[in-house]
Amino acid sequence: LIWVIVISVSQGEASLVRAREGGSAELSCSLTPSAKEATTPNLFPLHVVEWVRLGYNVPILIKFGVYAPRVHPNYKGRVSLTQGASLLVDRLTLEDEGWFECRILLLDSAKDDFRNGTWTFLSITAPPVFIKTPPTFVEVLLGDSLTLSCGAHGNPRPTVVWHKDDSQIERHEKIKVLNGTLSLASVTRNISGVYKCHVSNTEGNLTHYTQLQVKGPPIIIISPEDTTLNMSQDAVLQCQADAYPSNLTYEWLKQGQNVYHIESLKSRVKVLVDGTLLIPNLIPEDAGNYTCIPTNGILAPPSASAHLKVKHPARVGRMSRETYLPAGMEGVLVCPVQADPPMLYVNWTKDGNELNPDNFPGWIVNSEGSVFITTANDNAVGMYTCTAYNSYGTMGRSEPTRVILKDPPNFKVPPRPEYLQEVGRELMIPCEATGDPTPNVTWSKIGPTPRSQYTVLANGSLLLQPLSKDHQGGWECLATNRVATVSAGTVVMVLGEWAKLTFANKYNNI
Ligand SMILES: *[C@@H]1O[C@H](CO)[C@@H](O)[C@H](O)[C@H]1NC(C)=O
Ligand SMILES: *[C@@H]1O[C@H](CO)[C@@H](O)[C@H](O)[C@H]1NC(C)=O
Ligand SMILES: *[C@@H]1O[C@H](CO)[C@@H](O)[C@H](O)[C@H]1NC(C)=O
Ligand SMILES: *[C@@H]1O[C@H](CO)[C@@H](O)[C@H](O)[C@H]1NC(C)=O
Ligand SMILES: *[C@@H]1O[C@H](CO)[C@@H](O)[C@H](O)[C@H]1NC(C)=O
Ligand SMILES: *[C@@H]1O[C@H](CO)[C@@H](O)[C@H](O)[C@H]1NC(C)=O
Ligand SMILES: *[C@@H]1O[C@H](CO)[C@@H](O)[C@H](O)[C@H]1NC(C)=O
Ligand SMILES: *[C@@H]1O[C@H](CO)[C@@H](O)[C@H](O)[C@H]1NC(C)=O
Ligand SMILES: *[C@@H]1O[C@H](CO)[C@@H](O)[C@H](O)[C@H]1NC(C)=O
Repeated sequence: LIWVIVISVSQGEASLVRAREGGSAELSCSLTPSAKEATTPNLFPLHVVEWVRLGYNVPILIKFGVYAPRVHPNYKGRVSLTQGASLLVDRLTLEDEGWFECRILLLDSAKDDFRNGTWTFLSITAPPVFIKTPPTFVEVLLGDSLTLSCGAHGNPRPTVVWHKDDSQIERHEKIKVLNGTLSLASVTRNISGVYKCHVSNTEGNLTHYTQLQVKGPPIIIISPEDTTLNMSQDAVLQCQADAYPSNLTYEWLKQGQNVYHIESLKSRVKVLVDGTLLIPNLIPEDAGNYTCIPTNGILAPPSASAHLKVKHPARVGRMSRETYLPAGMEGVLVCPVQADPPMLYVNWTKDGNELNPDNFPGWIVNSEGSVFITTANDNAVGMYTCTAYNSYGTMGRSEPTRVILKDPPNFKVPPRPEYLQEVGRELMIPCEATGDPTPNVTWSKIGPTPRSQYTVLANGSLLLQPLSKDHQGGWECLATNRVATVSAGTVVMVLGEWAKLTFANKYNNI
């Protein structure tokens, strides 16, 4: 028969032992017998020491007499008894946290004294240990979503705090931090920076740094400026951009076309590595809009434009070798002036002599420098040149143009002023014109375009077939050759069913 007596130091009261992960802990249990048993103090009765862990169905250590203790597999090599019955646990892990009970069973005891032993709670504290961290370098595309996760083990449970560039992340910044995970629905550029994840508890703290870079199209930091220069000076148009990734290339367009594809520019222009566009020795044709487009291949590149003005003495563009004027009609001799600063005046020569319009009644030189002739006749025939001037002077006279008189269109068979025809019938209106060169004849309806069909015959006649109400109204015959356009009008009246009937009755009554 075995009498079991449980003896404890402070019966009924639980005690708490704290220890660090990896360290060791002593869970005390005294072998002092209770007063009744202490009759023979020097000779402690035969006993069994048992350490039980709550949740384990087998004791973690049993020691009887001189025999080696029996140890639970989870605690092999890590537990031993000290000072009689106290339990020493080594190499503590977080899993060792829990309730332990010390039981001392006295064998052959006279008394039937069965009580619960001492309960001890073993608390394992541990400094934080990261279980997940974001990479130390993170690239994210502008507009994409972002999550950075940071988590740590430890006891007490570590708190996670995020900082960006040494200041705590504030709520209004659209960055959410939930349970250690930092997230953002749509990345903006200003999100780039150094992010710090700090985990801490009473036992210690750790910090993890993540460098975040936002990939996006370049940002133009220096835009080209509108520039005005004199001819033969050198133009420098600046353009500078910042980008990540920084593999920038700059493209320059003039009026939307790459400068290297423009004949007059491609051999002269240079785009420097810093984005600057150089145009040496300006010519008037270089004037225009220039657009800089920095690209790094990410998303849509930005652009910036500037206007380049090239000041130069007035000059005359391409003059045609021959100018045709309509004999007997109003004609004009155009001087194609190019001038910046604006043209002041144009001087003309006729057959090698300075042209004074005052000597020709009905001739004037208008503000654009063109010669207006009220009635072109043989006086106008000859060789002409024009010279344009502005405040910088002139770049010389034009190529000569020969004025030739031509016959304007003339109606040989013009349409009658008015035509009357019944609906559904056919109506042919003649319009025959002569001239040098032979004119082209076209017809148009005055007012809304007729929905019904009409045909212009080779001889210029207008054919309306079948005639409809839609054809009624004014029509115009236009005769055009290279010197002039002349027109002749007519009115088409379409008789409807009701009118036909009325006319028929009238005629019947006669
Ligand atoms: C001994 O402990 C058990 C549970 O561990 C409990 O149910 C019982 O009431 C306790 N007995 C005494 C006398 O404290
Ligand atoms: C927070 O994260 C921990 C692990 O890091 C996890 O165990 C817990 O369930 C999470 N809590 C919430 C509310 O997501
Ligand atoms: C970043 O830019 C967004 C808008 O693009 C703005 O709402 C936000 O406040 C900015 N954050 C910081 C820290 O400048
Ligand atoms: C972090 O731990 C160090 C010692 O390792 C301590 O000096 C420091 O004060 C702790 N910082 C915080 C914020 O707990
Ligand atoms: C351009 O030329 C004009 C006249 O030749 C001169 O007055 C002016 O100073 C020049 N401008 C520049 C920017 O060189
Ligand atoms: C030049 O560009 C500006 C702005 O981009 C635009 O307003 C202007 O009309 C352009 N001029 C020409 C001649 O294309
Ligand atoms: C720049 O590099 C990125 C990859 O980092 C690539 O996708 C892109 O095409 C490159 N851009 C240029 C202009 O080379
Ligand atoms: C141009 O014509 C103006 C009159 O319009 C005259 O005063 C001037 O001398 C002429 N210039 C030349 C270079 O022929
Ligand atoms: C005459 O008109 C036809 C057709 O509209 C056109 O092709 C032709 O070029 C014109 N000829 C002249 C001299 O206008």
